[in-house]
Amino acid sequence: MPAIAPSILAADFSRLGELVKLTEAGGADRVHVDVMDGHFVPNLSMGAVVVKGLRPVTKLPLEVHLMVEDPAKFVEGFLKAGADGIIFHLEVQPDPIELIRHVRGHGKKVGLAFNPDYDPSRIEPFLADIDLALCMTVFPGFGGQAYIPESNSRIRQLRAAIEKLNPKCELEVDGGIDRKTIGDAAKAGANVFVAGTAIFGDPTGPTDATRALHKLAGG
Ligand code: DX5
Ligand code: ZN
Repeated sequence: MPAIAPSILAADFSRLGELVKLTEAGGADRVHVDVMDGHFVPNLSMGAVVVKGLRPVTKLPLEVHLMVEDPAKFVEGFLKAGADGIIFHLEVQPDPIELIRHVRGHGKKVGLAFNPDYDPSRIEPFLADIDLALCMTVFPGFGGQAYIPESNSRIRQLRAAIEKLNPKCELEVDGGIDRKTIGDAAKAGANVFVAGTAIFGDPTGPTDATRALHKLAGG
């Protein structure tokens, strides 16, 4: 069953709680919190205080995508704030086992992410230890970017590895996911779809946009 994860990076922060609820009404499966430190990516976004603020507003799982140079520094704060899952990048944590175990030790979900210029096969040694593999479909840092079409072959490669090494592991994509690109990403093997602009910037509103993406993903 495909899952839709609205990225709050694209939401109007003066209405954040209300907008998250509207995506929930549209069948959103989790909330994707894009954390940027201005070093790993050329942008600064939000800290654990946003997860703390959202926690009482929604029952949806809050998954935190750490686009930061030193993820270990931030994990505790986000878990304390109420995060249900932590995703960090292989580029900055080439030996992720210790941090994977740390997050799992808290009973939370853990994911590994990699950028469009990173060889997907390098995640294979860790697939058995994680709940989610995030194949970035843009170079991270900003919402509203165009989906990189070469991503589809990388998603297929990652799907084959997951089927071989850990079929329970989710395959998430993030960046430029919209009504035109979600179908190909799903066909290639993705089953969790992060969308920011296509949900919070859609003229039909976040509820209908979430519902539409679910349908287009095969939900
Ligand atoms: C990295 C972020 C973005 C974002 C999704 O830049 O992870 O990919 O949340 O943005 P949209 O859906 O607007 O491309
Ligand atoms: Zn993200």
